[in-house]
Amino acid sequence: MLSINLKGKKAFIAGIGDDQGYGWAIAKALAEAGAEILIGTWTPILKIFTQSWSMGKFDESRLLSNGKKMEYLKVYALDAAFDNPEDVPQEIFNNKRYQDASEYTISEVAKAVERDFGKIDILIHALANGPEVKKPLLETSRKGYLAALSASSYSFVSLLQHFGPVMSEGGATISLTYIASEKAVPGYGGGMSSAKAALESDTRMLSFEAGRKWGLRINTISAGPLRSRAARAIGFIDTMIEYSKANAPLIKDMTAEEVGNAAAFLCSPLASAITGTTLYVDNGMHAMGLALDSAALNSAAGV
Ligand SMILES: NC(=O)c1ccc[n+]([C@@H]2O[C@H](COP(=O)([O-])OP(=O)(O)OC[C@H]3O[C@@H](n4cnc5c(N)ncnc54)[C@H](O)[C@@H]3O)[C@@H](O)[C@H]2O)c1
Repeated sequence: MLSINLKGKKAFIAGIGDDQGYGWAIAKALAEAGAEILIGTWTPILKIFTQSWSMGKFDESRLLSNGKKMEYLKVYALDAAFDNPEDVPQEIFNNKRYQDASEYTISEVAKAVERDFGKIDILIHALANGPEVKKPLLETSRKGYLAALSASSYSFVSLLQHFGPVMSEGGATISLTYIASEKAVPGYGGGMSSAKAALESDTRMLSFEAGRKWGLRINTISAGPLRSRAARAIGFIDTMIEYSKANAPLIKDMTAEEVGNAAAFLCSPLASAITGTTLYVDNGMHAMGLALDSAALNSAAGV
């Protein structure tokens, strides 16, 4: 029987803050396949995440098909907007929510992971941040645009730079992108559409560089809309879910689990010849060139 077997593999998932997002779903799918899980959680929400975990808030979501609960080997504070300690500005350094944390820049986390566990096999980038995401691109400031690129795209380049040497040959990485990178999606502003376009382009370039240098595979998943915490903050996620259901080839809810399963496949030896690709996991929405529920269409269109 063909199955996904990740026993003996270690996966570092950057961008888990609760049990609602794609990072969580990917961690769970990887755990289902037998991988051991390391988590990178954004420094300011680390305490609430670990407290919620130990208070049992995620117990139901942690349940695996074998009846056991998903565990993690360790959770690390991570702020993927910073590469080295000297990059952390004083205002962040002094911020109340950063004061108990240490070693949260990307280079420090990669070193800590190597110190704690040696090599890892899988690296997941499930994070994004665009402070001006609610503003149209036309009204986005330079600062907001660059912040979106820094936290949402360069963060992957930097993670790969620092984790690459700590990854075993044949290892795999996945990031999460969104169709707004290639088609205009009004409302996804602040430079976030540009950040996703960069992430997809970097997937291709880095697949070559990291493939040649370390034998790693680099892919990205273009995921359909999910009611995660980050998506709720953008403000129109329910409309996007409705829109997708009304117009996608497959008329069904799309679950985070489906993205998790695709990620587990891409990280497994079953996908050993797949790299540099953007895989759509969106009920086929990316393939459509027409909104079936448009008021401008009438039944004569035969749909
Ligand atoms: N939700 C959707 O509809 C959707 C669709 C396509 C792609 N995506 C992508 O999926 C990925 C995961 O997002 P999600 O929607 O599951 O939401 P989420 O809220 O579960 O995940 C985003 C995570 O990024 C973390 N984060 C933000 N800034 C950070 C930083 N500087 N350093 C470290 N962590 C940071 C947040 O704390 C959060 O845990 C993102 O790349 C997102 O753009 C989401």
